[in-house]
Amino acid sequence: MAQNKLCIIGGSGFVGRHIAAQAAALGIQVTIPTRQREKLKAELILLPTVDLVDVDVHDPVALDALLRDQDVVINLVGILQGNEAAFERAHVSLPDKIIQACQRNSIRRLLHMSALKADADGPSRYLRSKGRGEQLVKQSGLDYTIFQPSVIFGRGDSFLNLFAKLARLAPVLPLGGANAQFQPVWVEDVAACFIQAINNKATYQQSYPLCGPQRYSLRQLVEFTATTAGSPRQIIALPDFLARMQAGMLELLPGQLMSRDNLDSMSIASTCDCPFPEVFGIKPSALEAIAPGYLANLTPRGRYQSYRSRL
Ligand SMILES: NC(=O)c1ccc[n+]([C@@H]2O[C@H](COP(=O)([O-])OP(=O)(O)OC[C@H]3O[C@@H](n4cnc5c(N)ncnc54)[C@H](OP(=O)(O)O)[C@@H]3O)[C@@H](O)[C@H]2O)c1
Repeated sequence: MAQNKLCIIGGSGFVGRHIAAQAAALGIQVTIPTRQREKLKAELILLPTVDLVDVDVHDPVALDALLRDQDVVINLVGILQGNEAAFERAHVSLPDKIIQACQRNSIRRLLHMSALKADADGPSRYLRSKGRGEQLVKQSGLDYTIFQPSVIFGRGDSFLNLFAKLARLAPVLPLGGANAQFQPVWVEDVAACFIQAINNKATYQQSYPLCGPQRYSLRQLVEFTATTAGSPRQIIALPDFLARMQAGMLELLPGQLMSRDNLDSMSIASTCDCPFPEVFGIKPSALEAIAPGYLANLTPRGRYQSYRSRL
């Protein structure tokens, strides 16, 4: 692999940390801007070729300075909840600024993280804003690649870990969107696609839906997670009107448990109509093969062992 200088915008999050680790293992020089360098997890600062820098990526001048010496940009910035303006800022205005900064700094290669079923006419703010972001990337004239994953699982995910924690706290789980369909994909498979795409011209001007091998309803995912994490729970599927009331109340709490916009996103299946993109030569890993490896730490026995290992 050519020794690219890679900037991962939004690289301090769940997916970014896995991409950065794979890039560092190949000796690629990685720069990650963040709004919270001091708070950032030791694992990123420990990666040998990774630099974390305090930059406001919404400021075009700061963005220019950040990208001046870079060869490749990955944009992972994304939010799951917020008002219209917040989605617009993160998923539309920021990609626009990144595209313009790439053009000003003669960077041709942009890898852009979107979401499965992103669509400017989609059912939720999340999917509509992601869809509009994609449109800008496609019109940019850059050598872009767009990735559209279903929900992503893996060590440090917020999806399965959230349900595992809720199951530990609550005797029953009242669940909105219980029949929503997902096809979870492993974060290491997603990260490998990004890394492989960097220098692969066959992936230029392409968009890739990314799904794991199996489809599940949300109910099945929550049941699997609760049981695997050692807290099997009864799940009560909420009818739509109660699910919306519950989500409306959860929006007021910290922790981003569920929003009405999340329910709107789940009104269409987050599943793939085609197999995993052949160009990457990856057989996507099954949830059942990977998730027990990190959810088991949440069982009473796993928690005891991790407590002992810290003594
Ligand atoms: N996780 C999934 O299941 C999933 C599924 C499909 C698509 N995606 C997409 O994949 C991308 C990465 O997801 P993730 O799970 O890694 O997310 P994450 O852990 O929440 O990380 C999000 C990153 O975006 C940055 N960020 C958030 N809001 C920002 C803003 N307004 N301005 C600047 N930076 C901002 C954060 O930077 P700071 O360090 O500065 O806070 C963080 O590095 C997102 O675009 C998401 O929509 C994720």
